[in-house]
Amino acid sequence: MNGDELKAHLEFFGELGVDGFRREPEWRARQVSDVAIADTASADHAPQVTALRIISLTSIREEIGDCTRCKLHTLGRKQIVFGVGNPNADLMFVGEAPGAEEDIKGEPFVGRAGQLLTKIIEAIDLKREDVYIANLIKCRPPDNRNPEPDEAEQCEPFLFQQIDSIKPKVIVALGKFAAQALLKTTDPISKIRGREFTYRDAVLMPTYHPAYLLRTPSAKREVWEDMKRVRELLREGED
Ligand code: URA
Repeated sequence: MNGDELKAHLEFFGELGVDGFRREPEWRARQVSDVAIADTASADHAPQVTALRIISLTSIREEIGDCTRCKLHTLGRKQIVFGVGNPNADLMFVGEAPGAEEDIKGEPFVGRAGQLLTKIIEAIDLKREDVYIANLIKCRPPDNRNPEPDEAEQCEPFLFQQIDSIKPKVIVALGKFAAQALLKTTDPISKIRGREFTYRDAVLMPTYHPAYLLRTPSAKREVWEDMKRVRELLREGED
């Protein structure tokens, strides 16, 4: 390939949204089983340009690396808690940030709130392995404090990429922080829970966080209503 051909080749891939390449032979020979083709056409850019972009969960995790983008890496986090579950899930749950047990295990929602989330998933006839679970923030905030705006701003692009890779049919945003970040709103969770929004090609349903349900068991009734609707949405178009 001469210089002009190489230039044209790289420009072509640039237009497809590919913004870099790697030369290592091992990478070229990588398994592509977890690679999703995502349509990154954005509603924000009219006229829409549809670009095909290859995003895999593995490459998103690699991009995060041993992250030092925000101050949480200096505040006692043990590890990054990326996400867990089926990379082709129809249903994705998005929480707030890892707590102490998640920080130790490296897996989201494994503490008390996580056990309740597992029960919620099973209540709609699914298993934890069927869905994908991730958080807005990938590192544990100290003393389980709320995520701060600069932390959310640094971390949320990775959540958006995870969603683009998985392409779920339904996203359940658990609690205020996940819902507000995905919807770019400051509306309180009490106002938006149970409503159906469109996020990319998915239906986004905000509901109460399982930790809130542990403190306020009476709110479980509303979450159950939301989850029944989620089950309906997942079944729509199945037959
Ligand atoms: N709460 C969250 O929001 N995420 C977790 O992973 C655990 C508790």
